[in-house]
Order: sequence, then C-alpha cells, then structure tokens
Amino acid sequence: MTFHRIIFGDARNMGEIPDNSIHLVVTSPPYYNAPFDYPDLFPSYGAYLDLIKDVGKEIYRVLEKGRVACFVVQDVRINKELYPVTSDIINVMREVGFSYKERIIWRKPEGYIRISRRSGVLLQHSYPMYFYPDNIYEDIVIFQKGQYNHARKRKMLGDQIFRDSRIDIKKFQKEKWYLTVWDITNVLPLEGRLEEGVASFPEEIPKRLITLYSFKGETVLDPFLGSGTTTKVAIELERNSWGYEIDLELEPIIKEKIGFIQKRLSEVEFEIIKRKDATRLRTFLQEKVKSKRRR
Ligand SMILES: C[S@@+](CC[C@H](N)C(=O)[O-])C[C@H]1O[C@@H](n2cnc3c(N)ncnc32)[C@H](O)[C@@H]1O
Repeated sequence: MTFHRIIFGDARNMGEIPDNSIHLVVTSPPYYNAPFDYPDLFPSYGAYLDLIKDVGKEIYRVLEKGRVACFVVQDVRINKELYPVTSDIINVMREVGFSYKERIIWRKPEGYIRISRRSGVLLQHSYPMYFYPDNIYEDIVIFQKGQYNHARKRKMLGDQIFRDSRIDIKKFQKEKWYLTVWDITNVLPLEGRLEEGVASFPEEIPKRLITLYSFKGETVLDPFLGSGTTTKVAIELERNSWGYEIDLELEPIIKEKIGFIQKRLSEVEFEIIKRKDATRLRTFLQEKVKSKRRR
C-alpha cells in the first residue's frame, strides 16, 4: 500500500511535511515568465528567484540527509533576451546549502520544436549574424543534501526492499541511462491532450530519476506538481508521494492522470487538501498566451 498526498497551495510553505522525511525530490518549476506557458506570472526575475530560494529552503528542510533533489529546467528567452534560469537555480540551491552533483541534458527529438523554429531566418538570409539555433534540450540538475551513507541505509531498509529496488541493468544499458545526455521524447502537443496548457515533462523523466535515486516504499516529493506526472510514476514504481500545486484549476487533470477514482479501492491511498493560499491560474495564463499570439 502506498500513500499519495496532494496539496493545493503555495510550495513556499510545505508545513504539512515533517523535517527529514522525504527521500527524493523530482520537479520542474515554472520557467520564469516563459511566453507560451507563464507570461507575466512574476513581477520581476528577482521575484522568480526568490520563489526558487524559498521553495529550495523548504526542500532542504524536508529532505533526508544524503538524498537528492532533481530540477528539470531551461533558460528562457523573453523579448529576445536569454535569462540564465539553470545557472541561477544552481547558485540559489548552493546558497540554500545543497551541493551541486549532476547535470543531465534531456535531448528531445529534432523533428518537433514546441516554441518556434528560429533557424528558418538563416535560410531566408544566408549571411553572417542571422544565426538563431533551435533549442532541443532541457537541463536536469541534481542537488544533494549532505553525505549519503550506503551501509546505514541498507541496514535500515532490510535486504528485501534492497533487492526489490534493484535497477534493471539491461534497460540501463540499452536505453543509455548511463550517459549525461538522455534522449527522451517530450509530451507531444496533440489536440485535446490531458496536459494542454501545462508544461508537463514526459513520464520517462521521473521514471528514471525515481528508479535511480529512491527505494521502493520511500517517499518522493514534487513541489510544482502541474498535471501530476510525478505522482503517477511514484504510484507505478511503488513509492509514496507528496505533491504541491498552487493552481486549483489543475485538480481534474491531476485526478484523471493519477487514476484518483479507479485506484481508490486498490493498493493506493490518496489525500487531497485544498489550502486557502491556492489560486486559479490556468484560464488566466491561457488567455494571456492567446493574446500574445494575436499580437
Ligand atoms: C512546469 S509546471 C510542472 C509540470 C509537471 N512537471 C507536469 O509534468 O505536469 C510548474 C507548475 O508549478 C505550479 N506553481 C507555480 N508556482 C507555484 C507555487 N508557488 N507553489 C506550487 N506550485 C506552483 C504551476 O501552476 C505549474 O503547474
């Protein structure tokens, strides 16, 4: 039996979670004011980094010593200027107390680019200074809280859980999990898809991270839950989970993704809490995206 708690509220306060009780964080924060996802959500870049810092401090508090937090992030281009989101998140997390451990490049297939094909400019103007490459990657940056002790953990968990959490080496080799570049197809922008209007990551990302960094029966947290991808994968991989999401409008999407109705009678227990600091964001943001596209 695994337990999954979803809290609608601001992740700057994760007061429901006891100190040192989380074994892994997998998340992707909003990418500052990304024009096609979060236009004008934050009053300034400083305010955005303040959010990352406040949530980072809470992650540090709740994470067990030695365990890791994984952020899927990307630099963002706004009005032709690139904001160094990945570097700044690394710096903020180091200030909070984490050590910076890994950077994995998530490479998406070339055929599909979600935002815009910038490179076409050079085809029209085949001269120097018309080079605008198309972006096909995001960063997965991984931070650790203090030192991990393999022997102590093994003793605490016992042999059975240890064995059950063994990583499938064939898959590890075949799918090249061992590289710092992971080739994974992104969530495709199909009409009417469940995640429409949410910048979701594909299930394969939490699947790899949860498998590589947590044991069965441990607890995974996603402070920016979005459509609920991390919870869905935690259920499949027999981990417990906590998820925070500020936008109440995502409730039906999350419920559908995690199988809230179907799974209730089975091996999974859910709790959903709606706090007073939750808001309604999605419709407001989508209207803004539409008006930006019209301009
Ligand atoms: C990039 S999306 C996460 C997508 C998610 N990984 C998925 O697969 O669907 C970031 C989410 O963070 C939420 N968010 C923004 N600010 C927040 C805050 N202060 N506390 C909790 N959630 C927040 C947004 O509403 C959005 O759904």
